[in-house]
Amino acid sequence: MTETKGATVSVAVEDGIAMVTVDNPPVNAISQAIRQGLIDAMAEINGNPEVAAAIIIGAGRYFMAGADVREFDKPALPPSLPEAIASIESSEKPVVAAIHGVALGGGLEVALGCHYRIVDPGAKLGLPEVALGIIPGSGGTQRLPRLIGFAKALDLISSGRQAGAGEAAEMGLVDAVAEGELAAAAMDFIRQRIGAAPPRLSAIDAPAPESQDFFETARRRLARRARGQESIVRALDALEAATLPFDQGAKREREIFNELRGSDQAKALRHAFFAERAVAKVAALDGAKPREVASIGVVGGGTMGAGIAVASLRAGYQVTMVEASTDALTRGLGNVEKNLDGYVSRGRMSEETKAGLMAEFTGAVDYGALGPADLIIEAVFEDMAVKKDVFAKLDAVAKPGAVLATNTSYLDIDEIAAATNRPGDVIGLHFFAPAHIMRLLEIIRAASTTPDVVATGFAVGRRLGKVGVLAGICDGFIGNRISAKFRQQAYAMIEDGALPWEVDAAMEAFGMAMGPFRVMDLSGLDITWAMRKRQAPTRDPRERYVAIADRICEAGWLGQKTGRGWYVYEDGKPSPNADAESIIIEESEKKGIARRPFTAQEIQDRILYAMINEGAKIVEEGIAQRPLDVDMVEIMGYGFPRWRGGPMCAADIIGLDQVLGKIRDYAREDAFYWAPAPLLQRLVADGKTFSDLNGG
Ligand code: 3HC
Repeated sequence: MTETKGATVSVAVEDGIAMVTVDNPPVNAISQAIRQGLIDAMAEINGNPEVAAAIIIGAGRYFMAGADVREFDKPALPPSLPEAIASIESSEKPVVAAIHGVALGGGLEVALGCHYRIVDPGAKLGLPEVALGIIPGSGGTQRLPRLIGFAKALDLISSGRQAGAGEAAEMGLVDAVAEGELAAAAMDFIRQRIGAAPPRLSAIDAPAPESQDFFETARRRLARRARGQESIVRALDALEAATLPFDQGAKREREIFNELRGSDQAKALRHAFFAERAVAKVAALDGAKPREVASIGVVGGGTMGAGIAVASLRAGYQVTMVEASTDALTRGLGNVEKNLDGYVSRGRMSEETKAGLMAEFTGAVDYGALGPADLIIEAVFEDMAVKKDVFAKLDAVAKPGAVLATNTSYLDIDEIAAATNRPGDVIGLHFFAPAHIMRLLEIIRAASTTPDVVATGFAVGRRLGKVGVLAGICDGFIGNRISAKFRQQAYAMIEDGALPWEVDAAMEAFGMAMGPFRVMDLSGLDITWAMRKRQAPTRDPRERYVAIADRICEAGWLGQKTGRGWYVYEDGKPSPNADAESIIIEESEKKGIARRPFTAQEIQDRILYAMINEGAKIVEEGIAQRPLDVDMVEIMGYGFPRWRGGPMCAADIIGLDQVLGKIRDYAREDAFYWAPAPLLQRLVADGKTFSDLNGG
């Protein structure tokens, strides 16, 4: 038995079969101790004449979740995983991998090094390495196409998706799906193979690619899909090397793996992986128990309310929707049904499941119907007086202990809570449209929100499949506050000489899902217009105000919904709005600005640095707990490229001194807008990074 700090590989022999159990809680990550343990176990098995065959199995919930990602920030520790896998594959005695839970990344590579694979019906298999900015580095790109062909291997490796047991069996990735208990089924399976020559994937040639131009076509397609993410394209290079003899291909794979392992993109994607899990860890909530939630009330049946209702139904909650009139309710119910039909028509939900969900869904025009709900989420028009009225009504009907949530995207939740006699039960749950699809949920703690209500927000968010991020109260919370700030920079640039489509193209080349002007057209220009009008009375006179967007709105061009905004939409396709360009040029002239060209790099820098500076202020004010919370909001809700790790991680990678230097340069032209965040200045002075504030 090899043992290091709780990570063990043990061998137990029973009736001539060795059961090799990998045990490294919680997910059996393949750390150095496990790699060494596998090599020792194989030596023991091959040296023991009483053993005829072996089974490799995982203790706990999973077979193996892959290489230990925490080791990637440090120098590689011998022995390597390819060495461990080679020791399994070269065994003279047959070895079967008995897979339950997941076999991911290096875990699946271990299984591919075994001579056979048998799986539990609930098992999932995949090579998710590209999502971590690397490629399978222990033979995955070489053995997988030898087993299932290039097309299927490329699909699994480039998407990182997990295949279920049935699909894995169909594609030939596994030899058998276990009936009954997995270990017993593996015993029966391997006993029948004793004496037969163990099949080794490294000993055979890969089949011919599915078409002559297979790699060329795939390269073009993947480059488009990758939007700047290197690992996806490099995985194809490694896969192509599987056309070579195994040793040469495996060497090439390892070289690419090692190159990517220390890359900025891999660091950023690892950060995103751990940040996604860390957001749920809220120090201030230690010990707070979430309240029981089985039924959810939704006030409002518009796009947001319907999306929230659908997300809740799909997560198994009973849902009651309340609208102000019978007509509005009919529309709301229709919106919910339309969303569910979308799943059905895409083959992602059966009619039967839909009918089952609709049976859990009721509508009413009377607030009294919300009385039994454990959690009520308000999603009505964004207006303080309207929201206060709704909350006063909820206060009158909701049962004691019900959580009352508002989906406001910027209004003061303390003020909303004050409309009730139970402000401790009031919280912000800020969903993002479309609410049944977008994974971000900002969980906003008002001054009086009790810890168990915040804990309930996280628990419900998790059950809805969302990534919940805690935020404090300010105008726009985390995400919309940053967007407002960088939109101002985008406006300033178009007034100084850039054009909206140049800004969008630069930001899309940076990796954003959509440029800021296209986003505005999509959400409707009236939303930010209303916000500017609301802020007008308190706007600081030192702020540079760009009136271009107001003029566009005054012309009645509100974006996609009116067929015209920054762009003109014909058949849904955007082309630059020449009239908007005339307005932009007029506005520059009005202010006597000599328009100048902007490079894509300058556009990207200004927008990114505006996000970083505001993000630092948000962390400093305690609106976000840590920089990683800002990163997750931007990645999950605002299309920030995950492979850049979010704005705060991107700042660390660029170097905070360089970021601060640029902000100070920009401050020479607009000292108010570009006032450097004190936190950023302090970190630079202390030689620290944002990641130092993330803890753990
Ligand atoms: N290495 C190190 N830690 C890992 C890990 C890994 N591969 N996978 C998960 N963990 C940690 C998580 O960070 C978390 O830690 P925490 O409790 O301190 O927050 C803990 O294990 C539990 O993870 P989850 O909260 O995600 O647990 P779930 O049960 O929800 O999900 C999982 C389990 C499906 C295994 C999921 O964790 C997962 O997808 N893990 C990553 C799998 C992966 O990407 N593997 C490839 C690694 S790279 C590789 O193998 C390279 C090879 O080709 C050489």
